[in-house]
Amino acid sequence: MAEYIHVSIAWPYANGDLHVGHLAGAYLPADIFARYHRLLGNHVLMVSGSDSHGTPISLAADKEGVTPREIFERYHKRFLDTQQRIGISYDLFTHTDTKNHHKVAQDIFLKLLENGYLYREKQKQLYSETEGRFLPDRYVEGTCPICGYEQARGDQCDNCGNLLNAVDLINPRSKIDGSRPVVRETEHFFLDLPAFADRLAEYLGHGKDHWRPNVLKFSQRYIEQGLHGRPITRDLEWGIPVPLDGWEGKRLYVWFEAVMGYLSASIEWAERMGEPERWKDWWYNPDAKMYYFIGKDNIPFHTLIWPAELMGVGRLYEDDESKSFTLPYDVPANEYMNIEGAQASKSRGWAIWLPKLLERYDPDAIRYYIASVMPETRDTEFRWGDFVRRNNDELVATWGNLVNRMLSFAHKHFEGRVPEPGELRPADKEIIAKAEGAFKTVGAELGACHFRAALRKAMEVAHEANRYLDQAAPWFQIKEDRQQAATTVYTILRVIDNLKILLAPYLPFSAEKLHRYLGYERPIFGRQVIRTYEDDGREHQVLTYERGDAEGLWEPSRLPAGRELRPSEPLFAKLDPSIADEELAKLG
Ligand code: MF3
Ligand code: ZN
Repeated sequence: MAEYIHVSIAWPYANGDLHVGHLAGAYLPADIFARYHRLLGNHVLMVSGSDSHGTPISLAADKEGVTPREIFERYHKRFLDTQQRIGISYDLFTHTDTKNHHKVAQDIFLKLLENGYLYREKQKQLYSETEGRFLPDRYVEGTCPICGYEQARGDQCDNCGNLLNAVDLINPRSKIDGSRPVVRETEHFFLDLPAFADRLAEYLGHGKDHWRPNVLKFSQRYIEQGLHGRPITRDLEWGIPVPLDGWEGKRLYVWFEAVMGYLSASIEWAERMGEPERWKDWWYNPDAKMYYFIGKDNIPFHTLIWPAELMGVGRLYEDDESKSFTLPYDVPANEYMNIEGAQASKSRGWAIWLPKLLERYDPDAIRYYIASVMPETRDTEFRWGDFVRRNNDELVATWGNLVNRMLSFAHKHFEGRVPEPGELRPADKEIIAKAEGAFKTVGAELGACHFRAALRKAMEVAHEANRYLDQAAPWFQIKEDRQQAATTVYTILRVIDNLKILLAPYLPFSAEKLHRYLGYERPIFGRQVIRTYEDDGREHQVLTYERGDAEGLWEPSRLPAGRELRPSEPLFAKLDPSIADEELAKLG
């Protein structure tokens, strides 16, 4: 039975280009996972979009002297292009400034209010007398009241990971002018998180053995420490208006509404597909599996706050009383990817930007490297020397050359066809069995979100195939016994055909090329397309995925003898080792 798999990816703030941290932390694991499930034949819905609100956007706008909308529209366009080129196969990548998202967010707000989970409270907020306005939490920096870290942001401490309220910072300073803000009263809506304490504890206490231990522990500890009401409105101009009279100057807090994007994007997708109810196949289906791919700094929003919002709403746009929202099934949060031994930092120029990377390197080479050092269980490092080495020694030497040698050989000696084999020898059967067996072993790792292990296991098969080939040595066999050589080449081409699918979630671009070289007519995956719509009088661009033929390909294939092969070229290029020093010099 095909499963319903929802793949959500953290919404990037549209205040700057995407970098390898985004890719390693969330986008690449999510894309690998989505492609794997499409190959299995499951119903995959993968969504995300630009996070267009929040102080990261206004801060960038203030700095440039432009409007927040200009900032987010600029980077949203660039996100579409970058992600299309690196192959993140969203069914829909939209943004949070659509009419649809505003409506969903406001409807959820009203529903939570109606259900008694929001309350109003006067709150102390930091106010800048020099600027004459309340300062958003992110505009303030100070010492963390929990761990003492001196550069804690007003909303969250990067050192201990705890969510903060800016008024609790010791020694607060304005990020705009360094002045010390004063405390003033203002009224806001709060989400009554304590009202969900029991239900959240119950939710996290059962059937979560498949969660990453750090994600589960962090979330459980959070509840044990005692939940507090969370303010969900702000004194701001940029954002989603509070849908109540008398609240004109206030906006919904970005973290309160951005997580709702997972739902609103699913609704937008269904609408654009012309099947406006389709989103319910995931969101109101207790058997659907909802995955959230995020970085570790986003954990509490996805394991506590978003589930609480979903519990509190109950139902939306659905009359059937027996229905309720499907809660997250897994939140496989990744750790950080540092760069050459230091934490990435935009301001210090210590970052590797994806648009730049894509100007020079093949998307599959980038994907391969990032996947092999993905920060699944601990922080890892992007190292240029390692990038070049893995590209040359693993991607090119182990996989690319295997393919290239055998395809060229078949073109040269077997008229460009899959040769007719003689009876398979034990060694032939063994290597074929290994490749075929890998659909189970690699698949088990992929299904469990162990992306490094899955890649390692697939590459082990490629190693074995090289070993088999070196022993069989068809380049000698062909001189003495053409039938022996034919059997070897047939065997290896079958192995390659299987490996192509095993690696396709990681290397979709080269898998597609190889698929053609092996004589297939139709592509494996669907196409990624940028579409332009009109939304509320403005141009609205999204990235979409056209359903392809991947369905059911995750199983051993039998490349037929006699199949005509297409002319081929090497799948990957070797990189000159001098590139590492060159790139290193550009950092910082
Ligand atoms: N924009 C946030 C960030 O970059 C992530 C938002 S994820 C969502 O850290 F849950 F709010 F969607
Ligand atoms: Zn701290």
